[in-house]
Amino acid sequence: MTHALNDLAYHVIVFGCQMNKHDSERVCGMLEALGAYQVNSIEEADIVVFMTCCVREAADIRLYGQVASLKNVPLRTGSPLRKRIVAVGGCIGQRDGQELVEKLPHLDVVFGTHNLASLPTLLTSAVQQGGHQVEIAQSSTAFPTDLPTQREHSWSAWLPITIGCNNFCSYCIVPYVRGREKSRTLEDIAQEAQRYVNAGVSEITLLGQNVNSYGRDLYGEPRFAQVLKAVAETGVKRLRFATSHPKDLSDEVIQLFGELPSLMPALHLPVQSGSNRILEQMNRRYTREHYLELIRKVRAVRPDIALSTDIIVGFPGETEEDFQQTYDLVKEVGYSQVFTFIYSKREGTPAAKIEDDTPRSVIQERFDRLVDLVQAQAYEQNQKDQDAVVEVLVEGVSKRNENLLVGKSPKNQTVHAPIPDGCSIEELMGTYVKVKVQEARTWYLSGTLLD
Ligand code: 5AD
Ligand code: SF4
Repeated sequence: MTHALNDLAYHVIVFGCQMNKHDSERVCGMLEALGAYQVNSIEEADIVVFMTCCVREAADIRLYGQVASLKNVPLRTGSPLRKRIVAVGGCIGQRDGQELVEKLPHLDVVFGTHNLASLPTLLTSAVQQGGHQVEIAQSSTAFPTDLPTQREHSWSAWLPITIGCNNFCSYCIVPYVRGREKSRTLEDIAQEAQRYVNAGVSEITLLGQNVNSYGRDLYGEPRFAQVLKAVAETGVKRLRFATSHPKDLSDEVIQLFGELPSLMPALHLPVQSGSNRILEQMNRRYTREHYLELIRKVRAVRPDIALSTDIIVGFPGETEEDFQQTYDLVKEVGYSQVFTFIYSKREGTPAAKIEDDTPRSVIQERFDRLVDLVQAQAYEQNQKDQDAVVEVLVEGVSKRNENLLVGKSPKNQTVHAPIPDGCSIEELMGTYVKVKVQEARTWYLSGTLLD
């Protein structure tokens, strides 16, 4: 008997972080395994799955709006279903559960961050019986990693090593939604990495809300350095990780940037603020001095490392002086990339209780000032690679010009180069080429292929 989802067209819409992107690859893997096939638009889809994020309010509002407007999109002609099946997963699914189907009655399935594996069953019930299917467990013992995956690129893989977060930064909703931090065993991680490498994967990105505290729950102490060594031993060519918390970044891990050739020279180390007063109110548990010391140590080991960070502007009560300290810290570090966010109040977090009368226009002006600095810095950092030869992992063609290949450098810079005569992009994708950089711009490098 064929499965109820066989031959149905599905479309997945992803909001938010890499963990969500990874979870959606699992969603695709499960649906493909049951015979469904992926399409690129809502109009063509019998099933639409939203993988949602609730870290900031804007994404939250957008999700509710998008699901509401789906009601008016007719089902494709020829669909075997009477009605399009709409599912919401990820952080909003986990947080709002039943409330979602009450507010959006045409929604069929809601699944939480711990219930990825139940999605096929929930969708099947929705197809066969109709009605609302809601499943949100508070925690899970199994890692979604045991589920099939349909990776975006066959040569790159995300590998979650922890789920959840124990840090309770005062502005952040994640620990309430994703639950406490749980680590996979070292053996499990190493085995999965080895499977990927044997299957031809050359780039692995280890994922967790705070990879640096990996293992504390299992082994009583963080063992992230051991994870890096074990995964490097699989022979993977490029190894990356995200995200790091400065309070847990150990000297041992920093040293590995100088010891493991596969560990790419790129570190994302969210600072959030450069003011000690604000850092304390954020419950970040480090000072700007400690952060700058970490940067000094990392650069001593790997002078060419590309640093990136996250910054929140407009945390309640942030003064011009506090902001200035953030601005100065950014100036001092010299980042290749900074993800800037305007503070978004999240109900249920401690920061939501702090009164703030700073006008929105003041916050926006500070934000714009910071963005100008960040862009100038990104340009300055890329300029350092003018005339350099960089090894590029080819990912595809440029969206604007199909004669240009696009790929990533070790520092994770986007690199463009003309596709050489006689070469097809299909044969280049997933391979490594050497590019001589001729032009270094703010957001990309461009050059020509060597050899
Ligand atoms: N408002 C704005 N930005 C936030 N982030 C997390 N919570 C909030 C919030 N309430 C940012 C942090 C984090 C990134 C993933 O999102 O900078 O590092
Ligand atoms: Fe949120 Fe802080 Fe955990 Fe990151 S470390 S997910 S900002 S609570």
